[in-house]
Amino acid sequence: MYARSPIGLSGWPDLVSSPACFPFRIPFLPLMLRGMSQPRHRKSGPKGSAGGDAGRPPHAARPQGRPQPAAVRPNKSEARREVGWDPVAAWYDKLVGETGSDYHRQLIIPAAMRLLDIRSGESVADVCCGQGVLVGRLLDAGAARVLGVDASPRLIDAAGGRHGRDPRVRLLVADACGPAAWADASHDAAACLMAVHDVADIGRLFSNIAGCLKPGGRAVVVMMHPCFRIPRQSHWGWDADQKIQFRRLDCYATPQAIAITTHPGKATGEHTEFHHRPLADVIAAMGAAGLAITACEEPCSHRRSQAGGPFSKAEHRAAQEFPLFIALGAVRLPVT
Ligand SMILES: C[S@@+](CC[C@H](N)C(=O)[O-])C[C@H]1O[C@@H](n2cnc3c(N)ncnc32)[C@H](O)[C@@H]1O
Repeated sequence: MYARSPIGLSGWPDLVSSPACFPFRIPFLPLMLRGMSQPRHRKSGPKGSAGGDAGRPPHAARPQGRPQPAAVRPNKSEARREVGWDPVAAWYDKLVGETGSDYHRQLIIPAAMRLLDIRSGESVADVCCGQGVLVGRLLDAGAARVLGVDASPRLIDAAGGRHGRDPRVRLLVADACGPAAWADASHDAAACLMAVHDVADIGRLFSNIAGCLKPGGRAVVVMMHPCFRIPRQSHWGWDADQKIQFRRLDCYATPQAIAITTHPGKATGEHTEFHHRPLADVIAAMGAAGLAITACEEPCSHRRSQAGGPFSKAEHRAAQEFPLFIALGAVRLPVT
């Protein structure tokens, strides 16, 4: 049995009302379009996934016997051409806008700002800054210097349109997982919002984030909660006897690179990858990079059903019980 969910129990992207609004899928969209979004009161089995290897942080020691990363790949007919966020930059910029998506405003940015605790005059790096949604908030909080780094030239352009003339802001097109001259131990704080699942090499990402901080500098990472939200692998279920909406995970421990087709049906071959990793891998990679976790928040959806009806109570409860995101606060350990 299927039931429509009137509330936003879905993942990060359910920011518009209809999937038909989107001509393509981008990272996070599949969470809405492919089974994570609507509470599906169903009994269907898992969708197929193929073998492969991606997304293992080099520093994160994996205990012996742990499963190896799997990959859910695009259709064979789709060419293998990764294009990152540039092709969807205009859409993402419009979606996030000046102040952020609904989830940015209600959950992601508040958690990030609480954990960052910016003090007047500080220098802050926004790693994978996108179109710069956090930059204004950092300046408003008193940051004297903000560095925004992102791999997408178009998103950096969009950020530049907003903040490029501000002498306190520097924007850089760069791979946050590559060699990083900006990782120069000069920043008091660093943020990385909604991007950990976009990168294949979190060891390098965290190493650069740690490297850009002064010893004792603060970092915050906000991401989709890997324990509850995995594209195509997490679903809502309905227990009709107990009238409980439950979360079903078809897998968790195996890291997966999940291909996200950006133009389904058009066979352009364009896709991005969502890198699911168990939480232990993320925490271990942060630790290996010298980022000691000191705080954690698990924001749940602020959205509530307006529809009433038999499922509303259960949906409310589920919305309050299963976090959408996880925010990790960390401190750079002194270099030994
Ligand atoms: C979902 S967006 C989040 C952007 C922004 N932090 C926000 O909250 O709106 C993910 C961002 O990560 C960036 N990104 C992905 N891989 C990257 C990499 N290796 N280096 C730098 N940026 C990367 C993308 O270009 C995109 O802007």
